[in-house]
Formats: sequence, structure tokens, C-alpha cells
Amino acid sequence: MFYISILLQLLLSAAVASVSVSYNPKSICVLERSSVDFKCTFDYPYYSTLETTKWFKPEADQKQDGTQVGISVYHSNTAEIHQLYKNRTAYANQDRNCSLQLHNVSKNDNGMYFFRFEYSYRGKYTGLGGIHLSVAVLPFRVTVKTQKENGHIHEGDSVTLTCGTENCTPKQKLFAWFKNQRLIPEATDIEFRISSVSHHDFGNYSCALKNSSSTSADEILLDIKYSPKNVEIAVLPSGKIREGNSLTLICMSNANPSVTNYSWFLIKEANVSHIGFHREFFIKAASQKDDGQYFCIAKNDIKTKN
Ligand SMILES: *[C@@H]1O[C@H](CO)[C@@H](O)[C@H](O)[C@H]1NC(C)=O
Ligand SMILES: *[C@@H]1O[C@H](CO)[C@@H](O)[C@H](O)[C@H]1NC(C)=O
Ligand SMILES: *[C@@H]1O[C@H](CO)[C@@H](O)[C@H](O)[C@H]1NC(C)=O
Ligand SMILES: *[C@@H]1O[C@H](CO)[C@@H](O)[C@H](O)[C@H]1NC(C)=O
Ligand SMILES: *[C@@H]1O[C@H](CO)[C@@H](O)[C@H](O)[C@H]1NC(C)=O
Ligand SMILES: *[C@@H]1O[C@H](CO)[C@@H](O)[C@H](O)[C@H]1NC(C)=O
Repeated sequence: MFYISILLQLLLSAAVASVSVSYNPKSICVLERSSVDFKCTFDYPYYSTLETTKWFKPEADQKQDGTQVGISVYHSNTAEIHQLYKNRTAYANQDRNCSLQLHNVSKNDNGMYFFRFEYSYRGKYTGLGGIHLSVAVLPFRVTVKTQKENGHIHEGDSVTLTCGTENCTPKQKLFAWFKNQRLIPEATDIEFRISSVSHHDFGNYSCALKNSSSTSADEILLDIKYSPKNVEIAVLPSGKIREGNSLTLICMSNANPSVTNYSWFLIKEANVSHIGFHREFFIKAASQKDDGQYFCIAKNDIKTKN
């Protein structure tokens, strides 16, 4: 009697131990309209036979932990398959392999998926934990991260642009990045990092999947703030200056935000005088007294440049 009891316990524990489902990975992000593989293996007692295999998805108002059996995504009895999933699945149907492929996913497919099987004699088992599917809905969006929170981006800052969708972003894909609609050949990751931005990086950026017809993300302006660059004086009209003619000096620069204050100086015989506050300095009738060296200072909210 004692030995029989031990034997039964051994059999039982063997039976219990050999019933299992394992999902890998347990969480998946996939682009809408593409296919997803739910990778799954399972085990059941060697002396049993399988009666039913199915994948189900709990409905929105049900528990999402697998304890409530929702709609059939796949069922060994095809008549049981829910309308939404008819013709969209491929089941591995190999020994102890419960992998399922789901085609043409849409955002309605977001949610939890569980594998369940029934075996002789009256065995039922759901692989708890399940797989969480997130469907990435296009278009992509570019988000900008800097080391400063909500601050302006200045030259020298490190900036990371990330290509993503509202829900999630599929991994292990090649991306394409564009600056002012031109491909940046070296950028192929989900992130595009510029370790020290300069005013040359100012521009509109967008991303897309590489080698894909899917439309690219809306452009986002990388609004790098920088002090005036390339400050130059233009003289109008150009050419030789004749006495009596009028002429205009223009202080030209490239700055972000734009220049708010200009100052004009004239150096004459080592005497510096402040002669103007506007972008343009106008000389009505040039004469000898206007001889000298002119320079301008352009200021924005960042810095000064002569
Ligand atoms: C599934 O495919 C079969 C034949 O290929 C077709 O008759 C049936 O209408 C399809 N069902 C759905 C829901 O698309
Ligand atoms: C399970 O089946 C799928 C689809 O046929 C296959 O790709 C996968 O390699 C199989 N997995 C194992 C562990 O055999
Ligand atoms: C994929 O699903 C969408 C609806 O979500 C449908 O409009 C489209 O025709 C489907 N494409 C294929 C190839 O079945
Ligand atoms: C960026 O895009 C905006 C809006 O389309 C446009 O007005 C602006 O000129 C663009 N900037 C550059 C540097 O191309
Ligand atoms: C720039 O100009 C504004 C008004 O024109 C003036 O109030 C301000 O003081 C000037 N700032 C500098 C730094 O010169
Ligand atoms: C410098 O210029 C100012 C005004 O233009 C004048 O009053 C002053 O006498 C000049 N000084 C010298 C040393 O030329």
C-alpha cells in the first residue's frame, strides 16, 4: 500500500511537471499590416493525446491574465475561429510546438494572447502569462531628447532624435533619417544621436523605415539656438564709392533667434565712435569726413559677434 501510494505520487508529479507552455518573447511590438510570430512550446504527459489546441485573446471586459477564455484566434476546430481571425493565422501544428503566425495585424489586435490545450483524460491547461502584442500604428513621429528638460537647444548640446509611434516601436529594423528631405546615409538606427550639435544641424528632420514604402514621419524642426555667425558688412551700391553719392551699409549675419540689436562703430584716427543702432547704416552723401573703418556688432539673445 505504502509503495503504491509513492508510485501514484511519482506518477502524479511527473504528470503535473510535464504540463507546461512557454512563450518567448512575452512582449512584441510589430508594425501594422505586417505579420507577427507568437513563439511557443508546450508539453503534456507522454501517455495522453491532444484533443484541442487553441489560441485565445481575452475580450476587453474580461480578465487579461488568461483565467478567462476570450475569442478564438486559432482553434484546432476551424469552425470555432472568430471571424476577425479567419484566414489570418498559421499554426505550427508540430509536436509540442504551439507557435502561431498572425498576418496583417491592425491596432484592433493589440492585447494579450494565450495558448490553451485539452488532452486526454480531461486535462486542460492554459499557458498563463501569455504574450502581449502592441501594434505600431503609422506614421512615425520624431521625438527630440536633450540633456536639458524642456530647454532650448544650444550649440554643443547632445541631442538624440528617436523614431517611434504612439504605441511602441518595432525593434531590429533599419531606419532612414532625413534632414531637410535629404537622406542622412550614416543614420540607420531607431535613434539618431548628435553628440555636440552645431548651427549646421539646424533643420527639419524626419524618419521612416528603410526600404519601405511607408510614409515618413512629419518633419520636426531641430531649433538650435546660436549666436550670430558670419557677421559681414555689405555695401550698396557695390563698386567704387564716389563723393556725393548715397550709400547703405548692411550688417549681415546668421543667428537663431535672429539678431535683435545692432551697433555700428566707426574707427577714425584711433577714435572709436558709436554711430548707429539699426541693421542698416545710411550715408546720405559720402564725403571725406566719412572715411574710416566701419564695423558692426550683432546681438541676439545668445551672444555677441563682431
Ligand atoms: C477565408 O478563405 C476562404 C477560402 O480561401 C474564403 O472562402 C473565406 O471567405 C475566407 N474568410 C474570410 C473571413 O476572409
Ligand atoms: C515551431 O514552428 C515554427 C513554425 O513552423 C517554426 O518556425 C519554429 O522553428 C518551431 N519551433 C521549434 C522550437 O521547433
Ligand atoms: C489588412 O487588414 C486591413 C484592415 O485592417 C484590410 O483593409 C486590408 O485589406 C488587409 N490586407 C490584406 C492583404 O489582407
Ligand atoms: C522646416 O519646415 C518648415 C515648415 O514646413 C518650413 O517653413 C521651414 O522653412 C523648414 N526649414 C528648413 C531649414 O528647411
Ligand atoms: C537692444 O535693443 C533694445 C530696444 O531696441 C534695448 O531695449 C536693449 O537694451 C538693447 N540691448 C542691448 C544688449 O543692447
Ligand atoms: C573723437 O570723436 C568725437 C566725436 O566724434 C570728438 O568729440 C572727439 O574730439 C574725437 N577725439 C579725438 C581724439 O579725435
